[in-house]
Amino acid sequence: MRTLQIFDTTLRDGEQAAGGSLTVEEKLYLGQQLERLGVDILEAGFPRTSPGDFQAVQLLAEKLRDVQICALSGFKPDQVEAAWEAIKEGEAPRIHVFISSSDIHLERQLRMTRQEVREAAVACVEQAVGYTSNVEFSAMDATRSDWGYLCQLFGDTIAAGAKVINVPDTMGYTQPREFAELLQYLRAHTPGIDNITLSVHCHNDLGQANANSLAAIMNGVDQIECTINGVGERAGNASLEEVVMNTTVRKDFFKVSHGINTEEIYRTSRMVSDLMSMPVQPNKAVVGANAFAHSSGLHQDGMLKDRQTYEIMTPQSVGMGGSRIVLGKTSGRHAFRDQLAKMGYHLSEQEFQEAFDRFKDLADKRRNVTARDIEALLSSDVLHAKEYFHLDLVQVSCGDKSIPTATVRIIDDEDQVFEDSALGDGPVDAVCKAIDSIVKVPAELTEFRVQAVTEGIDAQGEVSIRLESEGVSVTGYGADTDIIVASAKAYMNALNKHIYAQSIAESQGEEKPLAAASTQA
Ligand code: KIV
Ligand code: ZN
Repeated sequence: MRTLQIFDTTLRDGEQAAGGSLTVEEKLYLGQQLERLGVDILEAGFPRTSPGDFQAVQLLAEKLRDVQICALSGFKPDQVEAAWEAIKEGEAPRIHVFISSSDIHLERQLRMTRQEVREAAVACVEQAVGYTSNVEFSAMDATRSDWGYLCQLFGDTIAAGAKVINVPDTMGYTQPREFAELLQYLRAHTPGIDNITLSVHCHNDLGQANANSLAAIMNGVDQIECTINGVGERAGNASLEEVVMNTTVRKDFFKVSHGINTEEIYRTSRMVSDLMSMPVQPNKAVVGANAFAHSSGLHQDGMLKDRQTYEIMTPQSVGMGGSRIVLGKTSGRHAFRDQLAKMGYHLSEQEFQEAFDRFKDLADKRRNVTARDIEALLSSDVLHAKEYFHLDLVQVSCGDKSIPTATVRIIDDEDQVFEDSALGDGPVDAVCKAIDSIVKVPAELTEFRVQAVTEGIDAQGEVSIRLESEGVSVTGYGADTDIIVASAKAYMNALNKHIYAQSIAESQGEEKPLAAASTQA
């Protein structure tokens, strides 16, 4: 049975999704989870596009040892050099170079001839091969390119040393049968193609990204490029969870194996959704809230008699096992550390202490703390990594006959304590206004999303928000048993992220903050 390589590009193409930008800490946090999920290659960013991206790729290459870290590069020498500099400390690091191959891109965007593109492609592959033998070449907009020209371009880059050849459907334009025919043509006519790893990268503009990726698997490709929840440029990319579960549930049909630990899928999906502030639609395959919810009487009847009547995979197989009780008020440090290890977290002593204190607070409020609660709590911790302002106290008075009033106490990074109060249209508005009167960042709240982490009246609420400030969009996340407090935490988190981005921009002498600097490929 062939083994499929899963190339995850959530942190690169996924981050190109409008409003989906991530901080360095968030990329590391997600990168660790993608490693636990078992992806083979993790594309961490496009180092030449911004110092933040360079730093994130470098950090992931240093810290993650069980996955190949890949950096994207255009065809210019400084881009290839930056990609290598960022990943060189990684375990089997990969440089991924790309150039457009369709006439429409060549004539109207690059303004280069086909011959010039062939030469530029060979030159950048040769430069990359000078750093590492693990080099991938992509022909951007391959599916709208001349097939004969593609074979020449791929043949040249294979001869120059590329070990992976990627065929992107950049515009989500192709159809499954047509894509299969293109792959067969490339196999038959590209010199050297039998000795390399053949890969595809499908976008979802016509909703065909998964179908095209699966057609490619049926036609012998070795690597699939995809993202969690299908996030990515425009309508996104092929979704890792859907491609993987198709090949898992229908192994009899696809006849391939993979190294993904499917039980980590749901958790990874939630993290990506929370950190990018991108909700997953309830009816989304595999990870949607309703993916395993049977509501019609007939289906429920069948499920009660034999689950196989209406269930082709179990929720447990994708890690949606329900909220098992994990710990409680009386659980001590040992039990908490043990639980973290079971969940794959290895925290430093200081991080552990902070997480333990927060767990104890939570256990005081909530009788049973589940694995999902612990994740929400760790997400909040990691997202507070850069705290210029720490929210120390939130007090709200509201009701149907009173004007919502909020008081907040905030401590800055020089230990100065500030307190202020404000009135608002509602309790969240009052809290935000009280925070604004201390942290003076002019920002507009453009998205606000609350959901329960687990079941029960004492469940934690998760709040994800988006702020627009000075033309930059940042997301914020907070979790608490009190949704007003969770909202305040999310707001504070977003403001801290904005200030952080602004400080980076200022240190580079730029006028505008870089927070949402996306890595446009
Ligand atoms: O969609 C695309 O063509 C890409 C390439 C950089 C692989 O993202
Ligand atoms: Zn892409």
